[in-house]
Amino acid sequence: MFTLSGMFIIRRKLPDFSLLIRRKYVNDKFPSRLVTGSSHSQEEWCPHYSKQNWLKKSVQYMCIHTANTGLTREDLIFQETVESTHHITPELRLRLITPECRLWMATPEESPFPEPFWGFYWPGGQALTRFILDSPSLVVKQKVLDFGCGCGASGLAAKIMKAESVTFNDIDKDAMIAVQLNGSLNNIAVDKFASENLIGSSCKDYDVILVGDMLYDSEFADSLFIWLKELHQRGKKIYIGDPGRYAIAEHPLCNELRCLAKYQLLRSTVLENKGHSQSYVWTFS
Ligand SMILES: C[S@@+](CC[C@H](N)C(=O)[O-])C[C@H]1O[C@@H](n2cnc3c(N)ncnc32)[C@H](O)[C@@H]1O
Repeated sequence: MFTLSGMFIIRRKLPDFSLLIRRKYVNDKFPSRLVTGSSHSQEEWCPHYSKQNWLKKSVQYMCIHTANTGLTREDLIFQETVESTHHITPELRLRLITPECRLWMATPEESPFPEPFWGFYWPGGQALTRFILDSPSLVVKQKVLDFGCGCGASGLAAKIMKAESVTFNDIDKDAMIAVQLNGSLNNIAVDKFASENLIGSSCKDYDVILVGDMLYDSEFADSLFIWLKELHQRGKKIYIGDPGRYAIAEHPLCNELRCLAKYQLLRSTVLENKGHSQSYVWTFS
């Protein structure tokens, strides 16, 4: 069983603070490495970290692994995840990296994936997905973009709730594979993907933009807020799921947001996410 004290042991054991472990400590004061233009680098807050070496090792691992076993990337994602309904939308079955998985405690060198954010179901995404599933008319006949979709739960919920179309967007191509796996697991056809960075684009093909847990880096939040506000002013409906992270709670633009829903998170999610016990859905007022 994964315990809080266990997490501290792991933390001490891993001076380079594995990203897989780091996600459990997502601290709103830590700069994150989302695509940001952030002035902080991972090396700054983690002196042992060398992205180049890590990526090299990951690629080596992947090549060796797939060459020896003939596994595809999809096989590998399947192999490194387990099916889980242990979240606040249990009607969705998701393949996730959980405490039962090898990668939960892996060091970066042991991981074939540089940043498997798609392997976790983030508290902001959970609230947003719960909200979509509980709101019968929210996305009906709408063209939906799941921006930074990760495991794809929010977009899958939009499909269940009869959106006209759902485009799953994530700059990590492995996320696209994870979304396909999760779509199949729930008998949901997933056919629209976008792996480019859409920040700043007009999103002319979409009516609704879903933003699940994308605001845990304050500088990234700045550019995101500006873009989302512009989209809102152009008539797009924006729904943001967030557990009350620093980037949203203290952002000047948060006064322009209206809270639509609040959910209690499961205890395990709370422990993994810096004690955030609730998660919220916001929209522009
Ligand atoms: C914290 S995870 C949230 C995933 C999912 N929305 C959820 O709530 O479970 C952030 C995701 O955003 C993706 N991401 C980061 N920057 C991005 C960008 N500029 N455009 C699209 N996706 C991005 C990451 O690859 C990651 O999958």
